[in-house]
Amino acid sequence: MPEINREKLTKLLQSEEQLFHKSHPKSYELYQRARKSLHGGVPMLWMIRWAGSFPVFVKEAKGAHFTDVDGNSYIDFCLGDTGAMTGHGPGATIKAINEQIEKGITLMLPYEDVISVGEELQRRFGLPYWQFALTATDANRFALRMARMITERPKVLVFNYCYHGSVDETFITLDEEGTAMSRANNMGPQVDPRLTTKVIEFNDVAALETALSARDVAVVLAEPVMTNIGIIHPDPGYHDALRELTRKYGTYLIIDETHTICTGPGGYTAAHGLQPDFLTIGKPLAGGVPAAVYGFTEEVGQAFNERLDVDDADVGGIGGTLAGNALSIAAMKATLENVLTEEFYAKAVKLQETFTEGVESVIREFELPWIVKRLGNRSEYWFRPTPPKNGGEAAAAIDHELDRYMHLFALNRGILMTPFHNMALISPETTQADVDHHTKVFREAVQSLLA
Ligand SMILES: Cc1ncc(COP(=O)(O)O)c(C=O)c1O
Repeated sequence: MPEINREKLTKLLQSEEQLFHKSHPKSYELYQRARKSLHGGVPMLWMIRWAGSFPVFVKEAKGAHFTDVDGNSYIDFCLGDTGAMTGHGPGATIKAINEQIEKGITLMLPYEDVISVGEELQRRFGLPYWQFALTATDANRFALRMARMITERPKVLVFNYCYHGSVDETFITLDEEGTAMSRANNMGPQVDPRLTTKVIEFNDVAALETALSARDVAVVLAEPVMTNIGIIHPDPGYHDALRELTRKYGTYLIIDETHTICTGPGGYTAAHGLQPDFLTIGKPLAGGVPAAVYGFTEEVGQAFNERLDVDDADVGGIGGTLAGNALSIAAMKATLENVLTEEFYAKAVKLQETFTEGVESVIREFELPWIVKRLGNRSEYWFRPTPPKNGGEAAAAIDHELDRYMHLFALNRGILMTPFHNMALISPETTQADVDHHTKVFREAVQSLLA
């Protein structure tokens, strides 16, 4: 099996950094200016985590492509880490936004459109009641609160190396001995997450039963397929066990479809007949305009209402002045009705299959101990020979230097991958030529490491 020459990797990375500097002078200049008013020179600190030593400043984006201020063009396989999974600026969404802007942006009162969105969400995800937020983080926060309020139980259960947005309760991992601890670099947590949360490995039914059997867990918050430490599929039967055990111990189940909406129009939930008590989703719902929703069952709705004091609802911890604003709703309605359709998925998933085949062909050609995993129109390659079963195994496989090199090599050749791992999303605006270019560049990157 071929070995990566680490010394060579370090040198190659340096020369890619030089190339990046040379081809991005205007981005560099803007970055220097940005540093004088923006902390870290970026609007959110995680934006400095891109592969280059400064971020690329975008000029404009359309479909699956964008250009930067230096005139470089890119194929966008990151697509706003799912926020722009629709492709940038889908026509129907833009039209609806333009029309709505003339008719009011935010009022704290509903427009009729919001009912159409509620009905469409019902149809897609099978849950009867819906509420709105602006981010998936908030949708998760609100669902957690509802679950704790109804069950009067203190704890939440999550999976090792999950990510559900910046939800305090979820920043917890297992150390090598399997002991729960605050996630590394958890910035100023309100309380020690061990007080609020139990954490176990995904796909471990015995650990799940042990954790739930104390009957102090209000809710399990889960992605149906883990995506944020790479794609980790559930073992056959795992979702049945998860549902059975949560019901057995009186614990609610939230399925977070924010990324797994890559599976199909009703997410993994509809595709696999899951029956969550709550479903949360944000990111691509409104074509990139901030919008998120959380849905729940009849039983949850009733139980919540019994405990709700409407006069105090605005200070009860579930809020957001701009949630459900008319602009987001119009964008969501148009995106759901016209963009995230069956045809969207048919095209994007097929293209993703060819992307995955391209990566696999290179892995085979060079007999690399790597794999590629796919879920709908999302795929991810791993620098390990077998699929990880859980977050702990996945985290152990991360190779920061190699990741950085592969990303920067691609970026310097007009390809943007998702910054946090080796994930590629495909929209129907992506072309076969884009996919072929990726296969070629991926092959060149591999070849450079082995030659
Ligand atoms: C599964 C999942 N849930 C929720 C979120 C939070 O989304 P947002 O940052 O838009 O609040 C993310 C973000 O990556 C996510 O991956």
